[in-house]
Amino acid sequence: MIYPIVKYGQTVLESQAATVEAFDTEELQTFLEDMFQSMYAAKGVGLAAPQIGVGRRIAVIDTSNGEDPAARLVIINPSIIGKEGAQSGEEGCLSIPGFREQVTRAKKVTIRAQNAKGEWFEQTGEDLLARAFLHETDHLNGTLYISHVSPLKRDLIRRKIRKMQKAGEWR
Ligand code: NI
Repeated sequence: MIYPIVKYGQTVLESQAATVEAFDTEELQTFLEDMFQSMYAAKGVGLAAPQIGVGRRIAVIDTSNGEDPAARLVIINPSIIGKEGAQSGEEGCLSIPGFREQVTRAKKVTIRAQNAKGEWFEQTGEDLLARAFLHETDHLNGTLYISHVSPLKRDLIRRKIRKMQKAGEWR
């Protein structure tokens, strides 16, 4: 099932997501498959559960845009355990469509997370994958990438969105 993407302004996007405790269930397997389908349909490289309105600490990532099955990654209850270097680049979010901003992030990031079976693993990613680890883990903590841009730019984005909300063009 393809879920619609929740847009900026909904409380679920700025709330702490709940820790996942039940693993290896059919419900979780179906939910993960739905998350991948929803992400591919929206043409994203990452999707966090709050973006489909579900406050659970689950995200999916595929930096190959569905080209390479080996690039499919599930991260459950993730935390960032290492950061190195810096990269500056454009970042966007499916929940804030139509906007992209320069965001400086660590170049190399190590994550600790659980897979669908509940097994803990650590993985280090660089460049786009490092950015995805940080962006998606942020989502699960109720933080959006616009928190990492200057207050001036953030206000500008918020004002434009408010205008679209009033016009009924943002829902
Ligand atoms: Ni996002």
